[in-house]
Amino acid sequence: MNMRFLGNTGIKVSELCFGTMTFGGRGTWKTVGELEQKEADTLVGMALDAGINFFDTADIYSEGQSEEMLGKALGSKRKDVIVATKVRGRTGPTPNEIGLSRHHILEGCHASLKRLGTDYIDLYQLHSFDDRTPLDETLRTLDDLVRDGKVRYIGCSNFAGWQLMKALAISELYGLERFVTLQAYYCLVARELENELVPLCLDQGLGILPWSPLAGGFLSGKFRRGQPRPEGTRLSDPNARFLQFDEEKGFDIVDELERIGEAHNGTVAQAALNYLLRKPGVCSVIIGARTPEQLADNLKTVNWVMTQEEVARLDELSKPPRLYPYWMLEMARQNR
Ligand SMILES: NC(=O)c1ccc[n+]([C@@H]2O[C@H](COP(=O)([O-])OP(=O)(O)OC[C@H]3O[C@@H](n4cnc5c(N)ncnc54)[C@H](OP(=O)(O)O)[C@@H]3O)[C@@H](O)[C@H]2O)c1
Repeated sequence: MNMRFLGNTGIKVSELCFGTMTFGGRGTWKTVGELEQKEADTLVGMALDAGINFFDTADIYSEGQSEEMLGKALGSKRKDVIVATKVRGRTGPTPNEIGLSRHHILEGCHASLKRLGTDYIDLYQLHSFDDRTPLDETLRTLDDLVRDGKVRYIGCSNFAGWQLMKALAISELYGLERFVTLQAYYCLVARELENELVPLCLDQGLGILPWSPLAGGFLSGKFRRGQPRPEGTRLSDPNARFLQFDEEKGFDIVDELERIGEAHNGTVAQAALNYLLRKPGVCSVIIGARTPEQLADNLKTVNWVMTQEEVARLDELSKPPRLYPYWMLEMARQNR
């Protein structure tokens, strides 16, 4: 397993990160996965054996169960790995158990440390933007957590370009910790990130951590044009289908992924993940799995490398809509 630097930091993480959103199953998370501790232990063990040293969770996944189970599954290996978690979502019924206020971040961090059974979080990420809390309040609180040794690096997720750039400017202005990573929805059926956020991350030295790299399972090859959705999968449940993408275009992409996968003795899922590993700015792709078979398939992604010509074919087939001002900026770039 290749290692890559986590953004501009001196820490190395595996190019595949294992996301643990399928652990637990409490509340509305049931359709994503209901893995019990024994199953979680198996998957974490497989990931470690394959050379993964990077794990992602969040305080809200299965209402805290995912963090608890990850902490238990890692056990004594915790010191050898990089653990990423998140704060922002609702964690209780009272008015302040949500958001990016000083109050909620401090409470949230202590609760996450306890559930994970650790003294520090390697990468503490804002799960998304909070338009009510001033960014200075949020960033000062994160800075305090780093100074206290409870958090080592900070990152964000699901931010718009202006929000991320404003946060980086505030960090610079006041000498506060700055985000080292952006965790974002980025895959072959969702390349909108390339308009604004990928260039921003390249310019500012942030590592990109794509989430839902298989579009929730769609890009695994088990969903085919004109065929019924396989039962028991996340995407067969209409309530769990919140990811936005054009399915018709997606089916053409799956056909191409199958051709490319076969050329390398690989699978559709491996080809979809392999593509992301070749994209500029990507630091580590956050893979998800509900079964050992799925994880074994996804882990084999690193056994082969997609060619530049294959990447170009997929780039062309999956081109995102050209939005203003990006097409205008592209014209300006060519006329320089
Ligand atoms: N920051 C955020 O807002 C955010 C949002 C979402 C996820 N994440 C992070 O990203 C991680 C990955 O997200 P994700 O689970 O949505 O990733 P994904 O790779 O898009 O989807 C994973 C799901 O696809 C199916 N699958 C995976 N590999 C397969 C294979 N080889 N063959 C057939 N089916 C396969 C499984 O679901 P079924 O068996 O049900 O089909 C699996 O649970 C999460 O664990 C979490 O850490 C972050």
